[in-house]
Amino acid sequence: MPTETAAHPLLPHLVTSLPGPKAEALIRRDQKVISPSYTRCYPLAVKRGEGAILEDVDGNRFLDFNAGIAVVATGHSHPRVVAAIQKQAAEFLHMSGTDFYYENMVELAETLARLVPGGVDRRVYFGNSGTEAVEAALKLARYHSGRDKYIAFLGAFHGRTMGSLSLTGSKIPQRRKFGPMLPVHHVPYAYCYRCAYGKSPDTCHVECVKVIEESLFKTILPAEEVAAIVVEPIQGEGGYLVPPAKFHEELRRVADKHGIILIHDEVQSGMGRTGRMFASEHFEVTPDIVTIAKGIASGMPLGAMVAKAEIMDWTPGAHASTFGGNPVSCSAALATIELLEESLIENAAAVGQHMLDRMSDWPHRFRHVGDVRGKGLMIGFEMVLNKETKERAPDLRDELESMAFERGLLILGCGANSIRLCPPLVITKDQANFAIDTLEACLRAQEK
Ligand SMILES: Cc1ncc(COP(=O)(O)O)c(C=O)c1O
Repeated sequence: MPTETAAHPLLPHLVTSLPGPKAEALIRRDQKVISPSYTRCYPLAVKRGEGAILEDVDGNRFLDFNAGIAVVATGHSHPRVVAAIQKQAAEFLHMSGTDFYYENMVELAETLARLVPGGVDRRVYFGNSGTEAVEAALKLARYHSGRDKYIAFLGAFHGRTMGSLSLTGSKIPQRRKFGPMLPVHHVPYAYCYRCAYGKSPDTCHVECVKVIEESLFKTILPAEEVAAIVVEPIQGEGGYLVPPAKFHEELRRVADKHGIILIHDEVQSGMGRTGRMFASEHFEVTPDIVTIAKGIASGMPLGAMVAKAEIMDWTPGAHASTFGGNPVSCSAALATIELLEESLIENAAAVGQHMLDRMSDWPHRFRHVGDVRGKGLMIGFEMVLNKETKERAPDLRDELESMAFERGLLILGCGANSIRLCPPLVITKDQANFAIDTLEACLRAQEK
């Protein structure tokens, strides 16, 4: 479906049907050798990227509203991030920060310790990914507390290695056949449209926290055996769910009351995505440990676990990783944070609000949109068959994803029936308007 936007380099332009011949050939090769565990949603084969625009191997131009799944915060190959990577790569590529010292790792740790909310001394452990940051947090919580159990949330996603997988409560295929897991108790995440309990936004979080205090703690889980509560401030993979602030306040209260460590997993919601450096800032709750990855280094592999200094009391040899805190990734992260603080967080807040304003009447205008929610450029909407019962419509969601792709807009699903919009934080208002116009056209077409 060729498009009319050839003259607009910041908008999509398709020159072949999709997938084009080169993409098709690459996908055939991929299917022979790449792990079948990957979940590919549409046939996009990338050649190059700039800002929020991606070009595929056939010369088709796409507008990227998933940013490598909420990763390329500064857009694809931002010149300042690329320059920082090139400079560091020419100096040295690796020198195992677990055994030796180099400056950009220290500088990045100082920067993260400053940025994580709470105004307390913090220390930083570096890994290469989100799941490693979460594993490190789980291990530290056990080490510090001498307790071995955890509380996590239904719908949560924290990664796929055995510890983080034990916390993950999102989809059956992610856990099937991988047990036994760590001792994690899953409880409902507070958000009314999905909450199994309440109907009112003012009370549903109370019911969710009651499950911890009045069900778990009084029946099968002694509170003094719980090392940590692990929670995403805004649930990502589970559906881009924004809970009421009181939910996070209550979790902080429960944690404090029982000497439990509160871990905020900001792997997806952190690093400016929500229009604040960390999503927890929207809720004014200070976690004990924060996990970070994805957007931190604009696409270079890096994860960080940032803990209150008094909690990070493990001794040499307790935990480490050869590649964690790689110097090239640290340089990319420092350049990323500079750009975030200069203008991109502000841009995420402003363009995200503009999008939410335009989308706020979708549940009234479109038969199959059940709910729209988000903060900054972490925006989700739900596809339903029936507005009253909120019967989920995963097939309509998948169809919408493909229809958008056919029009040059890259979006992704999350949760059972939601679409997530998580573009690079560099997007312009024109690009946001294009994405919304495109989605509205797709939603109208679906109604026919
Ligand atoms: C909140 C959250 N935590 C952890 C992870 C795992 O990160 P990674 O895929 O880098 O291991 C993800 C990935 O989507 C995530 O969204």
